[in-house]
Amino acid sequence: MRVESAKKIYIFSPALRLWHWVNFLTIITLFATGLYIGSPFFQGPTGVEATYAYEEGITMGFIRKVHFMAGYILLASFIFRVLISLVSKRDRLVIPTFWRKDYWIGLKEITLKYLLFMRDDEGHEYIRNACARTVYPLVYLAILFMIVTGFGMYGMSNPEGFWASLFGWVVWFLGGEFPTHMWHHWIAWLIIIFAVLHVYFVVREEAIKKNGELSSMFNGYKFFKKEPIDMNDIK
Ligand code: HEM
Ligand code: HEM
Repeated sequence: MRVESAKKIYIFSPALRLWHWVNFLTIITLFATGLYIGSPFFQGPTGVEATYAYEEGITMGFIRKVHFMAGYILLASFIFRVLISLVSKRDRLVIPTFWRKDYWIGLKEITLKYLLFMRDDEGHEYIRNACARTVYPLVYLAILFMIVTGFGMYGMSNPEGFWASLFGWVVWFLGGEFPTHMWHHWIAWLIIIFAVLHVYFVVREEAIKKNGELSSMFNGYKFFKKEPIDMNDIK
């Protein structure tokens, strides 16, 4: 897109951008430490034998502490995200508008055609297209699920404590400790699969449209040919 013929529109507030990058860093930390918790490489050709792990500073105790610290940051940033969605219209959480015909048309045209390179553009300009509207709420739910199951398991070491009384029911609800671990593990992978596809789509959008997509989560701006049809989202 030629920048001079485009409208530069301010979309992402500093608070949302701050949340996004804190969220990104904590999730990467949680995923790396979480995989280690699930399957420590204490033995085998690539790992450190347990006896020497202490010297190397990568004991399970340390890795778990990092996981839990990042878990607290994830929780704080999630609460922050919910709060800004309540006080600032621009930052409200989008939901898929199932009841509107244009949502279904958009989903079909975008997911099936535009994303599969079967058409050059999306037909309209969007702040968040039907695909993003569907996936982002699921990502927020997945993060919430990780928080609830994570703190549920965390609370098990102190069954009378605060976290057990708040989220202990989750472990019971999911059928015990082992299934809770497995759910926490599977959803972790779903979030990472989302992240990989998400980065692919961001980079692809930038490459095709040159619309400032990649930099938008840093400076808040994107370029549009005409006014996006869901402009109300940020007003
Ligand atoms: C764990 C990794 C990540 C997660 C969970 C994540 C999550 C999200 C979510 C939920 C949104 C929507 C915000 C909203 O409108 O409410 C978003 C937007 C965005 N993210 Fe990420 N993100 C991740 C990593 C990244 C990375 C590495 C990049 C940079 C390449 C990136 C670039 C963007 C951009 C440019 C947007 C705006 C896209 C749009 O207009 O819809 N994200 N991200
Ligand atoms: C997106 C965020 C998160 C990711 C990607 C993640 C990832 C993981 C993974 C892969 C495991 C190993 C599961 C297994 O195979 O047994 C794990 C374990 C665990 N996670 Fe998370 N986690 C996240 C958030 C949290 C949060 C917010 C907490 C809250 C403190 C938490 C607490 C725990 C606990 C208590 C365990 C079990 C530790 C143990 O058995 O020693 N996680 N996590």
